[in-house]
Amino acid sequence: MAQFVIQGGAQLGGEIAVSGAKNSVLKLIASTILLHGDTTITRVPQAQDVFRMCEILSSVGAAVDSSDNTVRINTDAITQTTLPQDLVKRLRASTVLIGPMLARHGEVRLAYPGGCVLGKRPIDLFVASMRVMGAEVEEQEESFVFHAKKLKGAEYFFPLVSVTATENMMMAATLAEGRTLIKNAACEPEIPHLAEFLNFCGARISGAGTHTIIIDGVKELHGGEVETVPDRIETGTFAILAAAARARIKITHCRPDHVESLWAMFDRMGIPYAIGPDWVEVQKTDKPYPAVEVTTKEYPGFMTDLQPPFTVLLTQAQGMSLVHETIYDGRLFYLDKLNTMGAYTLLCDPHRAVVQGTRKLHGKQLESPDLRAGIALVIAGLIAEGTTTIDNIYQIERGYEHIDERLRALGADIKRVEKSV
Ligand code: EPZ
Repeated sequence: MAQFVIQGGAQLGGEIAVSGAKNSVLKLIASTILLHGDTTITRVPQAQDVFRMCEILSSVGAAVDSSDNTVRINTDAITQTTLPQDLVKRLRASTVLIGPMLARHGEVRLAYPGGCVLGKRPIDLFVASMRVMGAEVEEQEESFVFHAKKLKGAEYFFPLVSVTATENMMMAATLAEGRTLIKNAACEPEIPHLAEFLNFCGARISGAGTHTIIIDGVKELHGGEVETVPDRIETGTFAILAAAARARIKITHCRPDHVESLWAMFDRMGIPYAIGPDWVEVQKTDKPYPAVEVTTKEYPGFMTDLQPPFTVLLTQAQGMSLVHETIYDGRLFYLDKLNTMGAYTLLCDPHRAVVQGTRKLHGKQLESPDLRAGIALVIAGLIAEGTTTIDNIYQIERGYEHIDERLRALGADIKRVEKSV
């Protein structure tokens, strides 16, 4: 068990490079189940969720070899179709293994997936989309069994836009018989990136990145080499940190065009920044930021994953801001922790909160409830007066590679301390 110990108030500045996106690489790894032969994935972040996904693949018989930021996978020897319960319960994203396993092996058994407080959300869209493709699904008390001798192309309109359910169906359809049409598909940049890789491996996918994806099934796919797309959530998180800490920080190796909704918000708040093709520099300013209203939306709207860090920034804006979280129930439940640090936020209902600024934050002893709320608490600790300790940092390390080291390079006073149990 480890914790972060942060001395707030250090002047931050400098450059930070963005990692490959955890939410891209998890799907690239899952997609290797569809592929014959070797696949090499580069720019893989060393994050706990990625380790768990690799462990799941190894446990069912795949050869997985990781070194630094590269993972080599060959899934030709997979023999098991039962995914290990302990790992599935720690990784919500294990749901993206359903489609590839069904398409290549005709069966998959998995426990109800977990991960964190948010991870225990429904998987009904996975069940429904696999059923329209001909899969039989047995729902047992604590687990699911999916069977399909051969998946068939089908048309499915997602009643709710879901990133991973779109990716899952798209992957399943690559080896199905005939044409699949995914309607009301999610458009997040990781989806066209995955489609481009699968097309390179022999798939026939068009329309990924729009709300309608068409997939013509093929008999076989081969392995290939792919570089993970830069993490847009990290890009946004570091930009928000710079604005909240009133620091000049250049964020490099990123895709600023994937984070446009945040730049639009920076424009409204008068936060100065400059953008290049693969970098963004947030400039230092002493001007007060005005309060704003922010509503989370599917891509290209304001990312739900940036809502917690952005709310920390709003504690430093003048006046009353409104935060409207439309994607998740329960993604505002970290606000009580911010309030203990001196923030003034009020939860109006599970989806809406008001944030009254400007407030001075002070250090506290805290626990990270989930990945994005966890990094928000780190940002709060960095701009607070005094010492903040954050427990349960596994939740933060699920998605951010060596975050303490990288923040120290910006001047942050943050230590990762092993706790004796
Ligand atoms: C992906 O989750 C990301 N995870 C999330 O990032 C991200 O917050 C989310 O997309 C939204 O952008 C990965 O890519 C691994 P959804 P996903 O299905 O696909 C409901 C992070 O911190 N729903 O688009 O699981 C669901 O409850 C994570 O990195 C159903 O009702 O999210 C939610 O309210 C957290 N039934 C809504 O849809 C289902 O079967 C949208 O979630 C599936 C989802």
